[in-house]
Amino acid sequence: MDISTSYMGIKLKNPLIVGACSLTGSAEKAREIEKAGAGALVIKSLFEEQIQLERFKADEDEMKYNDRQWEMLDIYPLVTHDREYAGTEDHMRLVEKICKTVKIPVFASLNAVNRDAWVEYAKQLSKTGVQGLEVNLYSSPKELDKHGHEVESEEYKTLHEINKNVSIPIAVKLSPFYTNPLDVISKMDTHGADAFVLFNRLFQPKIDIRKEQHISPLNLSHEEDSRLPLRFVGLLHGNIKADICASTGIFHGNQIVEMILAGANAVQAVSAFYRNGLPHIETMLKDLENWMESKNYKNLEDFRGKLDKENCGNPWAYTRAQYAKLLMNPQEVMDNAPVP
Ligand SMILES: Cc1cc2nc3c(=O)[nH]c(=O)nc-3n(C[C@H](O)[C@H](O)[C@H](O)COP(=O)(O)O)c2cc1C
Repeated sequence: MDISTSYMGIKLKNPLIVGACSLTGSAEKAREIEKAGAGALVIKSLFEEQIQLERFKADEDEMKYNDRQWEMLDIYPLVTHDREYAGTEDHMRLVEKICKTVKIPVFASLNAVNRDAWVEYAKQLSKTGVQGLEVNLYSSPKELDKHGHEVESEEYKTLHEINKNVSIPIAVKLSPFYTNPLDVISKMDTHGADAFVLFNRLFQPKIDIRKEQHISPLNLSHEEDSRLPLRFVGLLHGNIKADICASTGIFHGNQIVEMILAGANAVQAVSAFYRNGLPHIETMLKDLENWMESKNYKNLEDFRGKLDKENCGNPWAYTRAQYAKLLMNPQEVMDNAPVP
């Protein structure tokens, strides 16, 4: 049985990619990921915070820094003392080392803010030996009067600039929080995105009410969270040039099946491996193969996109009419309710 796939023009032996996180942040872990059978991995991101801290260190004149950079000073001790690979040069060395350690395709990930940083570090990362670059285009606006289209056009310009300066394929990892993600994705499709990773799971604040202070617990997803990317994969497949990688809430092989039926080229998972360990990669792939065997499918093309919006035979499957239908047929809701 052939479970290989093509993602951004790169052949993966299977569609399961370990997404960017601390599990992909060392050569030893990369080796474990490869051994467990993953199709590819995305190295933890290089963050604008690391870039800014370096610039801050290089400059004694603290007064010219803005709120964002002051905010970063708070994490400065963590970044400088806690990690083997903290600064940008260290990160480049880490990425090079991982590329030399494993044979599966390796992608770098960049999480910048300012356009000059996006372009400069995208260029540097593209020269480390990675096969592709994932860019985390998102903004969490703090200004009440900034228009959505302003935010979006800045992102298109950034993508355009990165694309002009980098020759390896670019995947855009997006947040779902746009008024119309389909419009944003279609525009980015024309600005040089080779793939979309749908979606990122953004940090959200959390308050400990006993201590009355903010905390940052490990932010893992749940299986149900995969229904949002599933919807967008199904709506987009066949309508954009770029490949689609489903991400968030994917824990089992049957969810890989769902995403491919909806039209995905590949999937990424992270929380699945924090909860179950890296050997779970093998279990997920085995489940995918077992399902294919039970359906007599020989390769992923046999069923990719079979249940996307155009092909599924139900024009309402991806729309809210489905919800209205369920509400008007309460008995059907009860019949379909999961058994506790
Ligand atoms: C501990 C941890 C670290 C992460 N680090 C990164 C990162 O460096 N870059 C990034 O783009 N996403 C990062 N993520 C987000 C994941 O790549 C992924 O988008 C998110 O967890 C949703 O996928 P999941 O439901 O499979 O966990 C991180 C997630 C976790 C839990």
